[in-house]
Amino acid sequence: MTAMRLEQAQALLGFVRGAGQEHILRYWEKLPENSRQQLLHQIAAVDFALLARLHHDYILRKNLPALTSLEPAEMITLAQQQAHPEEVRSMKARGEQELRAGKVAALLVAGGQATRLGFEKPKGAYPIGPVSQKTLFQLHAEKLRALARRYQTRIPWYIMTSDTNAGETRDFFEKNNLFGYSSQDLCFFEQEMIPALDENGKLILDAPDHIFTNPNGHGGTLTALEKSGALADMRRRGIEEIFYFQVDNVLLNMCDPLFLGYHVAAQAEMSAKVCAKRDPYEKVGVIGKVFDARTGKAGRLQVIEYSDMSAADKEARLPDGTLKYNAGSIAIHLFKVSFIEREVAGGTKLPWHVAHKQIPYLDANGQLVQPDKPNGYKFETFVFDALSDAERVVLLEVDRRFDFSPIKNAAGEDSPETALRDLNEFYARWLEQAGITIPRDAAGKVKVRCEISPLFALDAEELAPKVTPALRVQNDFYLEP
Ligand code: UTP
Repeated sequence: MTAMRLEQAQALLGFVRGAGQEHILRYWEKLPENSRQQLLHQIAAVDFALLARLHHDYILRKNLPALTSLEPAEMITLAQQQAHPEEVRSMKARGEQELRAGKVAALLVAGGQATRLGFEKPKGAYPIGPVSQKTLFQLHAEKLRALARRYQTRIPWYIMTSDTNAGETRDFFEKNNLFGYSSQDLCFFEQEMIPALDENGKLILDAPDHIFTNPNGHGGTLTALEKSGALADMRRRGIEEIFYFQVDNVLLNMCDPLFLGYHVAAQAEMSAKVCAKRDPYEKVGVIGKVFDARTGKAGRLQVIEYSDMSAADKEARLPDGTLKYNAGSIAIHLFKVSFIEREVAGGTKLPWHVAHKQIPYLDANGQLVQPDKPNGYKFETFVFDALSDAERVVLLEVDRRFDFSPIKNAAGEDSPETALRDLNEFYARWLEQAGITIPRDAAGKVKVRCEISPLFALDAEELAPKVTPALRVQNDFYLEP
């Protein structure tokens, strides 16, 4: 942190007062110089005009986009894929071509705070290998290394962190020898933080020299890619497509060539994988076509959050009995580099989302208070909102058993317990496809823990010739090179 010059510091303090936020200088006189500098640097990063607009639009006027009309989105369904195996083969080959040509980068967003899981380290450090106990970061790294080996290419890996976990994440990678990834192909970058506001639109101090801020949402990825130079780095390397994924999906089909193939063949600017909802009330956003209040254009794609959908829409069914709005958004995307360049030109175009939350604050006595009910507003942008700005979009339906099982909660659905169950079942099925008997109980549940390192086999086809059906699986079972 470089010390700020006196005139610059005074100008900033004047700005704070002008913005009606002088309460954040409450402890100024008592602060030692290094704390003053810390606060000044934080203040310098605050976009006061943006916060004033957010307060006005989202808190006072509750300016939420109105869904005037909703229609199901067109997607490449699983049934269509099953009916056209030739097309599927050629799309996969098309995607493989992109990988082989070195045009694909992987982008992991890991700047979130994992509040629901309640894990004290970065979420990627969560141990999840059914037998190996390998972490999420290692699992992703091994998939990427195996893919690069298979297609004889390099897959640069960009990892977004935030101020809440950047240092810890880098340290974790360093301690683990970058999980075997080449340092030349690994690039960490940070998203921005944004201050929260209290009920009156005021900044919140959570220490005498610190304003409470939160990561600006996974939508912050797009501007952070640009500001950090990562986007320019991709250009230099000849990257054209970016495979976007979240840290907590244990079944992630990394850089899925089939998805890539459909995306590239359609010249899509942004694409999304979707999967059928478990039931009408599964708390997942759904991709649909809506009247876009921002652009005034009808028929743009958008993720409709679970809480914004009426019960009637949630329950609506097609004549064949499937849910009418069934394109569950699972946060796996492809972006063209050129699309992101356009999307971030002149600042983010993404709309803000506001959440009423419990935010720690200093009380009148300077004591830190953890409130037991919401006392302020956090702001975030969401990456899927870029769908409505893309000219061409592919929505590819996938079977969640092979693509999606996230760790969100400490217990219940989408927790470590369900992720382990799904991962175990996923590997057991590969072994069974190779003719190996896996012990199951009367309910069909796999009785042992099994795991296959991505570096041993990336899929069932690669596994089959490497094992013999005579293999006996009776105890915990781990295949690694
Ligand atoms: P979630 O919305 O599930 O958030 O993020 P989370 O941080 O993992 O968990 P909660 O909501 O605090 O319990 C989905 C993905 O987006 C990333 C997360 O790291 C995760 O990979 N993310 C989220 C960011 O990178 N930045 C953000 O500001 C928010």
